[in-house]
Amino acid sequence: MLIMTPSSTWPFQSPLAHEAASAVIRDRSTNRQDIREASLQGLNLASARDVLDLGCGFGFMAETLAMRVAEDAKVVGVDVWPDNEEAFRERIAPSGRQGEFRCLSVDSTLPWPDRSFDLVVCSYSLYFFPKVIPDIARILREKGVLLAITHSERSVEGQLPAAGLADAACELVTLARQFSAENGREKLAGSFGTIRRIDYHNSLRFRPEHREDLYAYLRFKLPLLIPNAKPGDELPDELTGFIKRLLASRGEVVIGKDDAIFQCRDPLCH
Ligand SMILES: C[S@@+](CC[C@H](N)C(=O)[O-])C[C@H]1O[C@@H](n2cnc3c(N)ncnc32)[C@H](O)[C@@H]1O
Repeated sequence: MLIMTPSSTWPFQSPLAHEAASAVIRDRSTNRQDIREASLQGLNLASARDVLDLGCGFGFMAETLAMRVAEDAKVVGVDVWPDNEEAFRERIAPSGRQGEFRCLSVDSTLPWPDRSFDLVVCSYSLYFFPKVIPDIARILREKGVLLAITHSERSVEGQLPAAGLADAACELVTLARQFSAENGREKLAGSFGTIRRIDYHNSLRFRPEHREDLYAYLRFKLPLLIPNAKPGDELPDELTGFIKRLLASRGEVVIGKDDAIFQCRDPLCH
């Protein structure tokens, strides 16, 4: 089956490239607490048996979750890019939990019956498909939880000048505005009775010796930053020139990366 994939998802078709960018984020983050650990604070998932990870990518979040859910749990990962299947399964395997992968383009409805899941996770993905929020409430059990991690749109907007792209009409900002730290509560309020927001303050710092890391990170994000750019394209000379000048004059490039976590309970369709 051919799935239409918008250019905003192109960076994620290669799990290896995505894992490499994720490693740069981890290494260059000023906040040393793992966002996955931060997102789980206060949640007891020991009895969660049916778990759904929407927009699972290479299984970054599922890996941590799988260790916390019931021993006989099944973790279903959904992603629009089929090559994520193997990486997703490999990340779950050490936990001994059962993993299942579905290649699906999520929009507004999900192919599961009412009350199918104890936990639904959207880690940096709900901004691709915010229309599905009411249907997530439908497929959650009464005591079920939606856990969503997303960006601060102000922080994303601030990334552009930091990367020399102040005028870019880029996908990244459009995406972030679809479900962000700033508007997430409002978007969730019609579907969940209890919503807890946890702010995760962070920035990425690159000194001259980290220049190749910064280039790799920006190359990965290029289709989200510059119209018509494709995965693997080289960075434009203006951008690399801007970064070199910034590193020379200020000694570092700082990219804001504030995120927010939403823990949502009491799905309102019950
Ligand atoms: C920023 S990545 C996050 C991946 C993973 N959850 C994590 O935390 O690392 C977003 C993921 O959502 C997937 N995605 C985007 N739009 C989608 C859609 N409509 N249906 C299913 N997956 C989608 C992308 O392919 C990508 O793997």
